[in-house]
Amino acid sequence: MEPLRTLILAAADNDVIRRVVATAPGSRQIVARFVAGETVADALDAVRGLAADGRTATLDYLGEYTSDPELAEKTVRTYVHLLEELGAHGLARHAEVSVKLSALAVGGDEVLAGRALSRICEAAEACGTTVTVDMEDHTATDATLRVVERARQRWPWVGAVVQSYLHRTESDLASLAHKGSRVRLCKGAYAEPGDVAFTDTHAVDVSYVRCANALLEGGAYAMFATHDPRLVSVLRQRARWYGRERGSYEYQMLYGIRPDEQRRLATEGETVRVYVPFGEQWYGYLMRRLAERPANLALFLRALASR
Ligand code: FDA
Repeated sequence: MEPLRTLILAAADNDVIRRVVATAPGSRQIVARFVAGETVADALDAVRGLAADGRTATLDYLGEYTSDPELAEKTVRTYVHLLEELGAHGLARHAEVSVKLSALAVGGDEVLAGRALSRICEAAEACGTTVTVDMEDHTATDATLRVVERARQRWPWVGAVVQSYLHRTESDLASLAHKGSRVRLCKGAYAEPGDVAFTDTHAVDVSYVRCANALLEGGAYAMFATHDPRLVSVLRQRARWYGRERGSYEYQMLYGIRPDEQRRLATEGETVRVYVPFGEQWYGYLMRRLAERPANLALFLRALASR
């Protein structure tokens, strides 16, 4: 990992830096660019804003790797409340939710996480939307796919996520890329060792295209999560090659990242879903976005310095 990225990710775990960032006046506008706010009401506002120009959302209540059962319970309740509010405000057709199993149960306990996921799926079913289970680091891949598979027995629309940087992903797609299966394909966001993941960016991109082909060929509902302009145009060509109509796959990008491109794709009639994080635990998420792209870090430091 590059030194700058390592430094920023270390800052993500540092309480002093966290306090400085949280209280520095200039940081508010940067946080607001990547995080919709702290409350369910803020998340609903973000959905309305995206829906106004034809984009849909997947809402993520921030938090992961919880060691506190009360926090895990609060996370589940917040998702249930969020889904009820989406239904009550007529927004369920514009938004689904994304969940991390490590936030739903201490230690990502498979049984407890599965039960928590079921409560969230029941609420999603009641309001008429879907749930996607985010993929975390490679030590959780098997358990996460098992939990998704079990949930799909009752709710076939539960979305799975695969990461093109993992060597195993193409073979995982053999059982995931079938018709009716909702699968998000991303490059992968964790620092993984070379024995499980491609470390060369070109190899990750090549794997991404191979996995995309598998999803398109197999008939899955593919959710292409990437900001990469080269991949976006390759994906469109591949979708055409496989005779896929618009609406039989979608593009996904993160809130605040390449919003003009999101709008451009939506204007062209593509389905675009924006991953919208919200909640009190925004700091680690923000740091990961800054680590991914030094240009964002420069923006952030300029905003802090200008106050
Ligand atoms: P990458 O970071 O390789 O960048 C490629 C190119 O994209 C850049 O050269 C630039 O042109 C453009 N670009 C990227 N970031 C930009 C920016 N901030 N501004 C302007 N241009 C930019 N990961 C995971 O492990 N599990 C998960 O469940 C998910 N879920 C998920 C959902 C959604 C909707 C998205 C978009 C992403 C995820 N991810 C994820 C994160 C994902 O794995 C990955 O870390 C990031 O998306 C970054 O990879 P990219 O494909 O965007 O390109």
